[in-house]
Amino acid sequence: MTENAQIAVLNRAPAAPDAAKHFILNPADTGAVESYLVLHAPGDPQAALQAGALIDHILARYHQVHMEDFPQAIALARKVEAVHVAEAECPDGLADHLAVMADELAGHQRKEETALFPMMRDGGGPMVRIAIARMQAEHRDVVEQLTLLAVITKDFTPPQEACRTWRALNQLCRKIDRELREHMRLEDAILFPHFAGAV
Ligand SMILES: [Fe+2]
Ligand SMILES: [Fe+2]
Repeated sequence: MTENAQIAVLNRAPAAPDAAKHFILNPADTGAVESYLVLHAPGDPQAALQAGALIDHILARYHQVHMEDFPQAIALARKVEAVHVAEAECPDGLADHLAVMADELAGHQRKEETALFPMMRDGGGPMVRIAIARMQAEHRDVVEQLTLLAVITKDFTPPQEACRTWRALNQLCRKIDRELREHMRLEDAILFPHFAGAV
């Protein structure tokens, strides 16, 4: 499915048991969702629906998409590194760095999917702050990994004479950088503060 097709699917109203009775903001309209969740406590039934829709959006639009993008980027990087090994501009170590990022991100997402998000869907609770603090620490590690990704790819800029594979690799790395940052922003700036207060 193309990126635009995925976004179109996600923009449809999320499934909720009696969604017709409730007004659910489009989770892609993050400004509206943020305003709503800032003004309503986790116990509020409408806020619970809204937070649930945002979690669904994060899972489908980011968790799943990263796990599709990383294997492609790793495969492209292995190809480029093998073909251009003798060239000064070759992005040495890129495939290995992407593989480490993918592995650690998969673990991070699994913790959100199996522990933190279910707690949030249940309305929060005392453990939620601890889980959020751990996820925020892992987000800081991801930011460091993205900084190194930009260094290895020279700010996602291939050399002038780069082949199509090399260009595609840089485009995909740039997409991963942009979407990982937006994914973490939704969690750090909107979802987590709703459940943990201003953190
Ligand atoms: Fe996440
Ligand atoms: Fe996260």
